[in-house]
Amino acid sequence: MPPEPQSPVDTTSPDLDVAAIKADFPILSRTVNDRRLVFLDSAASSQKPRQVLDAMDEYYGTSHANVHRAAYTLAEEATNAMEGARSKVARFIGAAHADEIVFTKNATESINLVARSWGAANLGPGDVVLLTQMEHHADIVPWQQLAAEKGFEIRWIPLHPDATLDLTDIDRLMEGVSLLGITAMSNVTGTLPPVRALADMAHERGAVVSVDACQYVPHLATDVTELGADFLAFSGHKMLGPTGVGVLWGRRELLEAMPPFMGGGGMILDVRLDGFVPADLPHKFEAGTPPIAEIVGLGVAVDYLDALGMDAVRRHEVELTRYALSTLTERFGDKLTIHGPDAATPRGGVMSFAFGDLHPHDLSQVLDQHGVCVRPGHHCAKPLMRVLGVGATARASWYVYNDESDIDALADALEDAGNFFTL
Ligand SMILES: Cc1ncc(COP(=O)(O)O)c(C=O)c1O
Repeated sequence: MPPEPQSPVDTTSPDLDVAAIKADFPILSRTVNDRRLVFLDSAASSQKPRQVLDAMDEYYGTSHANVHRAAYTLAEEATNAMEGARSKVARFIGAAHADEIVFTKNATESINLVARSWGAANLGPGDVVLLTQMEHHADIVPWQQLAAEKGFEIRWIPLHPDATLDLTDIDRLMEGVSLLGITAMSNVTGTLPPVRALADMAHERGAVVSVDACQYVPHLATDVTELGADFLAFSGHKMLGPTGVGVLWGRRELLEAMPPFMGGGGMILDVRLDGFVPADLPHKFEAGTPPIAEIVGLGVAVDYLDALGMDAVRRHEVELTRYALSTLTERFGDKLTIHGPDAATPRGGVMSFAFGDLHPHDLSQVLDQHGVCVRPGHHCAKPLMRVLGVGATARASWYVYNDESDIDALADALEDAGNFFTL
């Protein structure tokens, strides 16, 4: 049986200077409905620091040209900027080689790449893809689509009512497994499942492990080897970078053996009338003009997080989660149901809740009147919603630019909502 979730918190890491961090984010100085903007929706997409915005502006203002296909100064500068970002991303997640980093549009495309390339080449009748019931739709639907074509079985690791994995039956579920697809952090409850222990079990059975790290890489120090991943998918826009760029990391041997995902310019060594020869890694998987400015922006987002220190980021978020759990529970008692683990350390900075019998959409509209942004809905995790026994939740999520005053603002806004709806 795998051990309890690993959720390292380095208590010796320095405090984040949140006031200075807030000042780096231009959007945080605006008001919403005449109130200070309290942004608590970073699990959907984070805000961007001035450094990232400036880098993208500067790239377009000074160095833009298409990459890889020309031998003039601008094209060389653009190529160097993009490849420099690739090296930074590789270092940030402990990848052994920069060419194991494939730039995609987002985590969704990264997971589809694994399914459509590795999956289509390796899975068929008799194979088993094992997923958890807390996956985001991005780590469910691509496998369902492929299973319908290829005839393999999908199995599910069930959940306890507190949205942690129920591993009672894990030996049976792992029998004959070909691929384990697992989120490293739930985008609904913040649950941190024991990825490494399950990856070890899957590897002992000869399976490949694909980790959806969309909510993990932005918030915890990441090392692909320590996680036990063979593939790792994440999005730039949730980690202070721009929209339009995502990452797939894969072990080199696996990526090398895989067929290209999309065909076109940039991904070939040669094309003849009777066929083509794919380019080397990572270009084999990067057909067409890449999102160059966005990749440059992502590189600077990585610099920003590196400068803060990911251990300090994690510690800050655990402390905020602890503060939110205690403040909200003390102030609202039974009126507020917080889904997910009771304690702060087995979770990231994401909190889904129900407030009385208010519909999450109505609630979030009232909170918006107070400048507080939380997200209502199923959060693209309908199977998990069914386990929680709800159709939707309100979700608050915090990041490096949030502090206790933001949690207090959420609590005050909830109080007003409670009065307004006479809860
Ligand atoms: C856990 C998880 N996986 C995948 C995704 C998909 O990310 P994107 O929409 O950037 O492709 C998200 C986005 O919310 C997520 O939270």
